[in-house]
Amino acid sequence: MSTVSTKTAICESHSKLILVGEHAVVYGKPAIAIPFPLKVKVMIQKVVGLIMIESPIYTGSIDGIPPKMEGIKACIEEALRCINQPFANLRIKVDSSIPLGRGLGSSAAIAIAITRSIFSLFGQKLSEEHLFSLVQIAETYAHGKPSGIDTATEISEHPIWFQKEKQIVPLVIRRPLYIVVADTGRNGDTHTAVDNVRKMYGSETVKVQNSLDEIARISELAREALLKGDIYLLGTLLYRNHEELKILGVSDDELNHLVEIARNAGALGAKLTGGGLGGCMLALGESLGHAKIIATQLMSSGASNVWYFSTEENSLYNPEK
Ligand code: MEV
Repeated sequence: MSTVSTKTAICESHSKLILVGEHAVVYGKPAIAIPFPLKVKVMIQKVVGLIMIESPIYTGSIDGIPPKMEGIKACIEEALRCINQPFANLRIKVDSSIPLGRGLGSSAAIAIAITRSIFSLFGQKLSEEHLFSLVQIAETYAHGKPSGIDTATEISEHPIWFQKEKQIVPLVIRRPLYIVVADTGRNGDTHTAVDNVRKMYGSETVKVQNSLDEIARISELAREALLKGDIYLLGTLLYRNHEELKILGVSDDELNHLVEIARNAGALGAKLTGGGLGGCMLALGESLGHAKIIATQLMSSGASNVWYFSTEENSLYNPEK
């Protein structure tokens, strides 16, 4: 969505969930991710002087931006350069409902909404490919060598089949999914998690390679399950994927605990989602009512926040706290 006047532009983007395949996707394996309806809204105004930013992470002039937003700065600089505008004269206001650092793709979502707003403000067309490459500038600062799955999912309005450097394929889901997302309340650190897997690959190559191959198989089977509408098979695959992520060392006690709570509440499947080592997990319910039951259990068993939703609507629900 975008709104524009001659002096102001407002654009949005959304969060993402990796259904299967995180980490393995960094090694060229396929993964499946879906849009998650937590939103970022950015308003950009033409002003005179230094670029000013107002955001949940930092408020002030772009010159004083903290290291963790350097990527956003580089992305803004390149976006302005592409449309022959000076690196100045903007006020950028970021409103985000995506918790930061929880594996929900907040950094890419902010960069997408800012980039869209800049192009919109100056009446410039922006292709999805160009948007992807600009946002990847910010993501490379944030995550080292990102696969691009966060950016691709947040640009897309549909679930996607993603493999690095290959065509992104929108996926048609035969049957709605009822998904619960629980936040451990602790920041995940995707950069560290990806580095740990890389180090482990160096020291325990066969073990890691087997795990990555198994995750690739899980992604292939999950795609078939989605195309057939077999949510029971999909659920089993989510549990299997979580076991592989444990082998890769990117889960932790709290994520494992929440996965077990979901299992005990009858979830068809559950796993961590995103980088891990904190952050969020997701679970699959049989219906929206079932998702609510799982969500309530997760909320009363230590999750700091829980959402549930159906992929056929754009609404998010919270269980009663
Ligand atoms: C992070 O959302 C997903 C990871 O696979 C990293 C990446 O793909 O860049 C952990």
